[in-house]
Amino acid sequence: MRQADLVRQSCAGASKFEGNRGGLYAMLTKSGVSWAGTGFLLALATGLLVLMIAGRHPEGVSLATRSIARVAFVFFWFAYAGGAVAAFLGCGSVAGYRRQAGLAFAGALSVHLAFVAWLFRISARQPISDEWVVYFVLGALGAYALVISSWPRLRALWENRLWRVFSIVVLEYIAFLFFRDFVLLPLQYWVAHPAEYFPFGLLIILGALLRWFAAARRWLGMPRNRPNASTFMR
Ligand code: HEM
Repeated sequence: MRQADLVRQSCAGASKFEGNRGGLYAMLTKSGVSWAGTGFLLALATGLLVLMIAGRHPEGVSLATRSIARVAFVFFWFAYAGGAVAAFLGCGSVAGYRRQAGLAFAGALSVHLAFVAWLFRISARQPISDEWVVYFVLGALGAYALVISSWPRLRALWENRLWRVFSIVVLEYIAFLFFRDFVLLPLQYWVAHPAEYFPFGLLIILGALLRWFAAARRWLGMPRNRPNASTFMR
């Protein structure tokens, strides 16, 4: 089977799955509660598992906080780069899942913040500088503002273009925070375990390149790829 046919089939599968949902599940999914809950529970499970293995001392809590940040990152990546990936593959229906991924990111971020608060309480030394606390708090506030404003009824109150600009600014800012943690800091301090950073660093760079490339194509007025007319897939 040709690659383009495979993409067409999986895109159709995603749309069919979307069309089949109903009842309470549909309500929870539409409101985003189930997605935020999924992100929250996955992050919490990761944190608890790491604590069980590493212990509840500051090093263990630090490791759990960093592991949770990686779970949050995976959801963020789909919210951030999912649209660009979908545009290249011609899967419009998959692009619709970006909001859900963003909600799951917000759920996981809440667990990250709870563990951060715990880490601040038990650490002998403040884990990150005051300056970076401000930058990260801004990122977290931006993420929650985006999630709240993406609620369909609130979103309808915004001028579409204004909301797009706001969402781009917030997403690029959070991407920069991840880039700082996964790429800039490891390069600056030459971390002991590069494997903890390398795949995530690569993903954030790849995600940014895909997004900017897709944006450039839109600005230049180039047509989006369709599964049956995709030069990218051939
Ligand atoms: C959108 C918001 C945020 C993002 C994207 C984010 C991202 C991250 C990432 C990627 C890590 C792992 C770093 C590593 O492995 O070296 C991390 C850890 C951490 N974050 Fe966040 N974070 C956010 C919000 C916050 C906030 C608001 C605070 C504090 C006020 C905070 C404090 C910390 C701390 C203390 C660690 C653990 C550092 C360590 O023990 O090495 N984060 N964060």
